[in-house]
Amino acid sequence: MADPTPSDAAKDAAARAAVALVEDGMRLGLGTGSTAVFMVHRLAERIRAEGLRLRCAATSRATCELAGQLGIQIEELDAIGWLDLTLDGADEIDPDLNLIKGGGGAHLREKIIAAASDRMVVIADPTKVVEQLGAFHLPVEVLGFGVEATRIHIQRLLDAMDLSQRPMLVRQRDGAAFRTDEGNLILDLSLECIPDPAALARGLNAVPGVVEHGLFLNMCQLALIGSPDGSVIELTRTEDLT
Ligand code: 5RP
Repeated sequence: MADPTPSDAAKDAAARAAVALVEDGMRLGLGTGSTAVFMVHRLAERIRAEGLRLRCAATSRATCELAGQLGIQIEELDAIGWLDLTLDGADEIDPDLNLIKGGGGAHLREKIIAAASDRMVVIADPTKVVEQLGAFHLPVEVLGFGVEATRIHIQRLLDAMDLSQRPMLVRQRDGAAFRTDEGNLILDLSLECIPDPAALARGLNAVPGVVEHGLFLNMCQLALIGSPDGSVIELTRTEDLT
């Protein structure tokens, strides 16, 4: 088998460290994305090796399918009710462990699952760690109905926040508008930087037609950042250290 790329080795290191946090009997949320794929594989290995009894909910159809292929039984979140721990990837992680998520278009279910968890642990390679959120596009899931009106509302909000003239594109895949697991569209906002993520999150939450945005603020308690050499750095919120 070919050697893993440095990026894959870093993701796998973070995934292993995250799966080491799992204890028998836990109710788990399983994230989405390429780093989460490593995590689901490592989790399946532990389940096979140790016979862990877990109850798992998935943040996307893709994760549900992968888990099923690896013998991990996935239940509806409502059947489990509440989760002990969610393990998920991120597109950006700032020093307060605020996140941008939704690069894979799954941030609606990801946020519902993370918000229904006692603890959210994020896994990533070092490229995801930033000083300020916003270089990665901010995904905003919107209803197809009235998408143009929703776009105008968001544009006005950005103008009011001195974030005007920023591109806002309907996400495409295979030559057509990308549809989320819920059948909605995604507007990707190229903001360059987000000086006040909390104000932007509040503004987006108030726009009719916005289903969910990719700002995950004050939701993550720990980030595990893997390196290609297999080492892992633990990041905790700066406010938790004071
Ligand atoms: C999907 C997500 C992913 O967790 C995020 O995009 C990170 O993905 P990857 O691990 O592939 O970089 O939010 O909606």
